[in-house]
Amino acid sequence: MSLKYESIIKQMSLEEKALMMSGKNTWETVDFEKYGIPSMAMSDGPHGLRRQAGAGDHLGLNASLPATCFPTAASVANSWDETLGEEIGTALAEEAVTMDVNVILGPGLNIKRSPLCGRNFEYFSEDPYHAGKMAAAYVRGIQSKGIAACPKHFAANSQELRRMANDSVVDERTFREIYTTGFEIAVKEGKAKSIMSSYNEVNGVYANENRHMLQEILVDEWGFDGYVVSDWGGSNDHALGVKNGSHLEMPGTGKSGMHDIVNAVKNGTLEESVLDQRLDELLRVIFATHQATVDGKGTTFNKEAHHKLARKAAEESIVLLKNEEQILPLKQGTKVAVIGDFAKTPRYQGAGSSLVNPAMPPESILEEIKDSGLTMTAYEQGYIRNRKPNAKLVKAAVDAAKNADVVLFFGGLDEISESEGLDRTHMHMPVAQDELINELTTVNKNVIVVLSAGSSVEMPWYPYVKGIVHGYLGGQAGASAMLNVLTGKVCPSGKLNETYPLHYEDTPAYAYYPSKERSSEYREGLYVGYRYYTTVGKKVRFPFGFGLSYTTFTYHDLAVDSEGVTFKIKNTGDVEGTEIAQLYIGKQSDTVFRPVRELKGFARVTLAPGEEKEVKISFDDKTFRFYDTRTDSWEVETGTYQIMIGSNAEEMLLEGSLAVNGTVTEGGYSRESLPEYFNGEIKNISDDTFRRLYGREIPDGSWSGEIRMNDAVCQLYYGKGIFGKLFYGVLRILLKISEWQGKPNLNVLFNYNMPIRGYAKMTGGFVTMKMAEALTEMANGHRIKGTAHLIKAAVKRD
Ligand code: BGC
Repeated sequence: MSLKYESIIKQMSLEEKALMMSGKNTWETVDFEKYGIPSMAMSDGPHGLRRQAGAGDHLGLNASLPATCFPTAASVANSWDETLGEEIGTALAEEAVTMDVNVILGPGLNIKRSPLCGRNFEYFSEDPYHAGKMAAAYVRGIQSKGIAACPKHFAANSQELRRMANDSVVDERTFREIYTTGFEIAVKEGKAKSIMSSYNEVNGVYANENRHMLQEILVDEWGFDGYVVSDWGGSNDHALGVKNGSHLEMPGTGKSGMHDIVNAVKNGTLEESVLDQRLDELLRVIFATHQATVDGKGTTFNKEAHHKLARKAAEESIVLLKNEEQILPLKQGTKVAVIGDFAKTPRYQGAGSSLVNPAMPPESILEEIKDSGLTMTAYEQGYIRNRKPNAKLVKAAVDAAKNADVVLFFGGLDEISESEGLDRTHMHMPVAQDELINELTTVNKNVIVVLSAGSSVEMPWYPYVKGIVHGYLGGQAGASAMLNVLTGKVCPSGKLNETYPLHYEDTPAYAYYPSKERSSEYREGLYVGYRYYTTVGKKVRFPFGFGLSYTTFTYHDLAVDSEGVTFKIKNTGDVEGTEIAQLYIGKQSDTVFRPVRELKGFARVTLAPGEEKEVKISFDDKTFRFYDTRTDSWEVETGTYQIMIGSNAEEMLLEGSLAVNGTVTEGGYSRESLPEYFNGEIKNISDDTFRRLYGREIPDGSWSGEIRMNDAVCQLYYGKGIFGKLFYGVLRILLKISEWQGKPNLNVLFNYNMPIRGYAKMTGGFVTMKMAEALTEMANGHRIKGTAHLIKAAVKRD
């Protein structure tokens, strides 16, 4: 392959080339003035820039420059609006160039395999098509300003516990159809210039050194021509990473990354020509994204315009979940009692590397309600975040509720409930809130629950409240957006990006999530989210794709041909509204198991009262395909497909069929061999059945008793060394303190889930690999030997 920057690369020494493959510091790449190579700055920013001007950390600990805090991905996904995603991406890029940022580390598009994943708020959807389309839109927007987007975390990274020390054991078909299809769309349609590999292993190989993922899938199949960056601290053996398709190790590891690569070239495990090629690919992005930040120097962005966009995004993303007796919208002058701490101090974004320092003070309901036309009769706090029910506050709230026409309750998940580095252990809302809602409904029939949370929750009080509106994490302008919906200035149109089960126990991965000690078995296979509930007919609280409106729509006149579908939607109510129609496909087959339906397209249509429009959704290369592990390629099974148009994953309003002339006449599976995967009853998959699906031996993910370099620090408890146990004990205490304080302690969480190797990757070269090995020895009880090795390694520092 010819090198674009051959003339530069030829002049560079092996050491200089190797040095470029690790960061210069937490956020920037190495620069070489003598070769004219500038440094490239990366910054988190899936829903707002987190550009640190001072000391860099990657956990959101140190303050960053003010930037617009847009609603998080989980919110914007509810809009199903690719144009909006593109607009947000463009705004993010406009801000990035003013802050000298060349690469935005986002969007995040891991699949919501379980509602408990602590980072679901940062991800788009439980469906790969939906996630991919939204992600591609962000990528297009971001890259329209000459900088790069970095979709993350590639791939099968759907849990936070031991996130850096976990092997995702997933069969190839599920991996392709569920966990990588979104990335495929982001790469092929968004033309992403970079990708972040995930922390975990996939089938025994670290994502950052996984040739199958980084070369065969990403480059050979999808035509990716950008660079791959490790997640921060996620590189294991970087020379192996470079060999297999990764480029950049972040953050910087001093010179240790360089030494590893130089040694690998010298001992013949890494060909220098491969290193040159990787460097060339990296340089292409460095040079391509450089000019945008040169031009952006000294410029500012339009704070007000971006605040407005953040509001529009929040408005489109709000989901109306229940509206009994049309209690909403509230008429002007309605006397409302406002209850709940969230009304005063909003929960508008999540915690961790995505934490934004908002450019404008985040709005609150208490402030914004003054301009809403509603008459607030009282405000009561009602509950204290992260505390047991408080009798005094409950009484005051109940008293206030008695005297109002309508009670607006504001609540959801507290800050400590969901965070990077922390999975939830249940799906309840805080007890103090659940109990308070129940109390309120005993004194006032008109209770409306307004939620802020980055993921789904159980709703035991569902039958007793009249209205439920979910704003997810609405960003800095979320409060005015919510009031606009509550008062009818905006007609709600959001539809859920994930299923709300009745109970956590109902979820398909219930028995398999989060994981055994060392591996996470994806035994539920394709049956993630609605794919499971709709196949087995399990009742849920709200299906995927569900959302109400202040108006009503009818669907009719479906026509199907080989290109796609057309149908008509009519607004049959008396206000303007937007409907999100969804195309689902299904097929009966004895040789390919499938969920009863899978999303393959969607359309947003805005209609005036009485208006009718024709909608067209085209089929694409994803519509009929399945991943065939016999041929290791995508195939289409010949036969008749059901074509369904739904207003959500459960309500199919129009149905047709299409005979498709495929690439194979049968798919090679049999009901006898994999009955559960044919009928969807996947909650109790035996080892034998999983082995048949997986096609090889299931690795033993259980704890062996010995601490390894790549075991998470939280496993130190099981080690023989007293220091390890002590360290673990201290982390546990610190975690308990942060739980009590109600604020995730990112530093502690990071350490807790990180492998011992991570110390050699996260300390900028202060701790070397040899030192990490010595620490591992100590953790296994070899105190004297380990200490001696530690001292030797510290003195020699190689
Ligand atoms: C997160 C990434 C983030 C990176 C840099 C990691 O801990 O997983 O999403 O981009 O830190 O902050």
